[in-house]
Amino acid sequence: MPKADDVRTMFDRIARRYDLMNTVMTMGIDRRWRHAAIRAAKVDPSTRALDVCCGTGDITFLLAEAGAEHVTGLDFSSGMLEQARRRQGGRRDPSSAKRIEFVQGDALALPFDDDTFDVITVSFGVRNVEDIPLAFREFARVGRPGARIVCLEITRPKSRIANWFYDVWFDRVVPVLGAIVSRDKAAYTYLPESTKSFPRPPKLAEVIRAAGIRNVTWKRYGGGIVALHRGDLALDAAAPDRTAAAVADTTDQPADSPEVGASS
Ligand SMILES: C[S@@+](CC[C@H](N)C(=O)[O-])C[C@H]1O[C@@H](n2cnc3c(N)ncnc32)[C@H](O)[C@@H]1O
Repeated sequence: MPKADDVRTMFDRIARRYDLMNTVMTMGIDRRWRHAAIRAAKVDPSTRALDVCCGTGDITFLLAEAGAEHVTGLDFSSGMLEQARRRQGGRRDPSSAKRIEFVQGDALALPFDDDTFDVITVSFGVRNVEDIPLAFREFARVGRPGARIVCLEITRPKSRIANWFYDVWFDRVVPVLGAIVSRDKAAYTYLPESTKSFPRPPKLAEVIRAAGIRNVTWKRYGGGIVALHRGDLALDAAAPDRTAAAVADTTDQPADSPEVGASS
């Protein structure tokens, strides 16, 4: 894992072309995954949401458009935040954009009081942080009792064919696309690399649970290359964890099928 400063300057460098490159790299399918994350967040008009590692704000905008009372997007890259604020100014729905505030800060030392947010999301962000368990402890600290925690992240698929495709796509195609679209082959060589050491869904579920987040479940999307984890904070510290004992992780469920993975 590279140092935080290197990650930050890399995102500063690629910020202007980040959205275009995302669309090219995922062929636009990422929108479907992001909408699944928003459904998992269960936003209502009283929700105060935090989108950590918000980048250019894709999830932040969707949280506000889903009706959250207030959404904070936090990122440590000034370049990514500059793009997020530029997009905020040009939104078709200015009333939801007004309920968004972008803040520069570190996911590992969130600049918020305990018990502040009802929803905390992170998408394609935690694999970049230097201390993943600490990031989830921070999410648990700033979440109110009952808060929902939602994490969308790239992961290795389970089937051999999907793994072969994953290796070819991320190791060979993405760096070339990065060189053409983003003019930054190094960044788009790092991004696939960063997925390799990232914990698989069952392990990540354990990391999340160890942070005090309960009822942790996950579901794979995109042929298994993306995992959506969700969990919540206890309404009261003595409440039992409702997570089922050992539920198998299966792949490629239809978007609206029941949850398929859970940590014990
Ligand atoms: C791959 S981008 C994801 C952006 C956005 N969430 C999305 O879904 O497109 C990862 C983002 O995480 C941010 N990031 C990485 N480590 C961070 C940290 N420790 N604190 C705050 N932001 C961080 C980067 O600056 C970058 O904007």
